[in-house]
Amino acid sequence: MSATAFRTHRAGELTRAHVGQDVRLGGWVHRRRDLGGLVFIDLRDRAGLVQLSCNPEWTAPEVMERAAAAGGETVVLVEGRVALRPEASRDVDLPSREVEVHVTGFEIVGPAVTPAIPVARKEREDLPAEELRLKHRVLDLRRPELQRNLVLRHRLLQRARQTLTELEFLEIETPILTKPTPEGARDYLVPSRVHPGEFYALPQSPQIYKQLLMVAGYDRYFQIARCFRDEDLRADRQPEFTQIDLEASFVSAEDVQDAVERVLVDLWAEGGVEVAAPFPRLAWREAMERYGVDKPDLRYGLELRDLTPMLGRDAAPFLAEARANDGRLRGLVMPGGAALTRKELDALTAIAKEAGAGGLIWARRGAGAWEGQGVKAVGQALLDALGGGEGDLLLAVAGPDGITSPALHAVRAALIRRPDAKLLSAHAFAWIVDFPLFERDPDTGRHVPAHHPFTAPHPADAGRLETEPGGVRALHYDAVYNGNELGSGSIRITDPAVQRRIFELLGLPESEIRRRFGFLLDGLAAGAPPHGGFALGFDRITMLLAGAGSLRDVIAFPKTTAARALFEGAPTSVAPDDLLALHLKPADQ
Ligand code: AMO
Repeated sequence: MSATAFRTHRAGELTRAHVGQDVRLGGWVHRRRDLGGLVFIDLRDRAGLVQLSCNPEWTAPEVMERAAAAGGETVVLVEGRVALRPEASRDVDLPSREVEVHVTGFEIVGPAVTPAIPVARKEREDLPAEELRLKHRVLDLRRPELQRNLVLRHRLLQRARQTLTELEFLEIETPILTKPTPEGARDYLVPSRVHPGEFYALPQSPQIYKQLLMVAGYDRYFQIARCFRDEDLRADRQPEFTQIDLEASFVSAEDVQDAVERVLVDLWAEGGVEVAAPFPRLAWREAMERYGVDKPDLRYGLELRDLTPMLGRDAAPFLAEARANDGRLRGLVMPGGAALTRKELDALTAIAKEAGAGGLIWARRGAGAWEGQGVKAVGQALLDALGGGEGDLLLAVAGPDGITSPALHAVRAALIRRPDAKLLSAHAFAWIVDFPLFERDPDTGRHVPAHHPFTAPHPADAGRLETEPGGVRALHYDAVYNGNELGSGSIRITDPAVQRRIFELLGLPESEIRRRFGFLLDGLAAGAPPHGGFALGFDRITMLLAGAGSLRDVIAFPKTTAARALFEGAPTSVAPDDLLALHLKPADQ
C-alpha cells in the first residue's frame, strides 16, 4: 500500500519489473551529482534509494533547473519513467539500483536547511559524535541503520503480540499516573495540581496492577509496558524503557517459563535465528559457583573451580589465612593460555583488582613444569592435583565468595572476549532459578529484596523465613542469553499475611505498609489465585537482535546516560507560576 494521492510507489521498491512504467515518487534528496548538463539524484524514502536521471533528452529545461537546485535532504515530488540503468552502473545486489527514473516532473515541496550532520555518508566514513547525533535526531533517524532497527523493533513487537495472543494472554493497559511500585530504583514523581502536596508516581513496572488483574480473574495478562526508573544509567539502561510484561494464574514457575520460551523462540525467529527450547536451567547458587555471576555467558566453557580442597601444606600462608576467614581459593584453567604475554597477564590482574580482588594468582605450564608467580603461592601439591596439560594457564583469586565471584567473572569475561576464545554455541539461553529471596544492601547492611517484595519464598525454605531470612530461596527466575539478563519473573505471594510479614522483614513500619501497599493487601484478601509472571526487557532484546551497540540505537527518541533528551531538550526548567499552580516552590537559585 505505498500508493497515495502523491505517489504511485516508494523509491526503494522499484525494480526491473517496473521498467517502462510511468511513476510518481516522493522522498528526500540523498545525494545530487551535476555532470555537464546532466543531473543525477539519489532519491531516498523508507524503502531505500533509487537514482533519478535528468537528461535534456527527456527532461524539460525548467524541470532540469529545479532538479539542479535541489539541496541535500530536500523533500521532492518526482514524475518519470522507469528505465534500466546502463549496464556498467547497475548494482544487481540491490534491485532498486538496477533501475533509474527518467525524470519528466520535479517539484520541491519541503526545502531543507543545510543538514547539521550528514545523512548520506561515504563508505567507511565515521559517524559524527553520538551527542551531536542525538541533538539532531531527526536527521540521524534517516540513517538506514536506524531505520532498519526501528523496522525490526516493530516486527518484534507484532510477533510478541501474536504469540501471546495465541497463548490466550489478554493485552490490558495499566495506569501511568499511579502509586510507587518498588523495583529497586527511585520514582519519577508527578505533582497533583488539584490535590496540593500529593504526587503520582510513574510506574517502575506494572507489577502490582498485573497481580490485581489476576485477583480480578483475568487469568492471563500481557502488556507492552513503558516503565520509568530514576537510576544511574549505563549503556544497557534507559530511564524509560519497554517491557513485554506478562502474568498468569494457576501456574507454576515452569508454566511461566514455557510461555516466555515460546515468546523468545518466536522473537529470535523473527530476528532470523532459529533457537530451540526448552532452555537449560541452572540454580542461582550453581551459576555463582561455576561462573561467578547470575547471568553467565554459556557460549563458552572456562568454568570456575574451587581449588581450596587441593591446597597442600606447601601453599603460601596468606592462602591458609584466607581459608580461616571464610575464604576459598577459586580459579579457572585456560587451555592454551600459557601463550598469554606478560602484558596480557598484567591487564587481567588489573581487571581482577578493578573488580575488588587483592590480586590475581597465575601460573602457566610450559613443557613439563609450571612457572609464574602463582607456583609459590598455590604450592606444588595443588598444581600436581590440578591435572591438565602443557599450555595451560591457571588464574586464581583467594578470599570470600563476595570477592572471588565478581573478580573471576570479570577475568572470565575478558578471556571470552578474546578472538581465540573457544565458542561452544552461538546462542546460549538459560534459566537461572532459585535466587535468594533477600540480599544485603551494601550501604545499610539491611535485607533488601533480591527481586521485588512480592516474590514468593521457595516452599522448601519458607520455615526459615524468621530464623535465617538470608538463606531463604525464592521462586524467582531470570532468563539469560549470551551473558545478558533478558528478563525476570517470579511466583508471587498470595497470602496477605505472608506479604505483610515480608514488608515487616524489610523494615517497613505498619503505617508505611498501609499507605503504600494497602491496595495490594486488600486485593490479595479478596480471593487471590496462585499466580506468577515475567517481564522481558524489550529494548535490550531488540538491541541484541539488531546487533546494535546501545539501547539508544533501537529507541526512536532515547535519553543520554545523563538522562537528558537532547533533541527535544528535556528536562527543562518551569516558569515560577507553573510551579506555584502545582503547589511547588521554585528551587533556590
Ligand atoms: P525487572 O526489574 O528485573 O523485573 O525488569 C525486567 C527486565 O526489564 C529490563 N530492564 C531495563 N531495560 C532498560 N533500561 C532499564 N533501566 C531497565 N531496567 C530493567 C531488563 C530486566 O531484566 N516486575 C518485574 C518482573 C516480574 O516480576 O514479572 C520487573 O520489572 O531486561
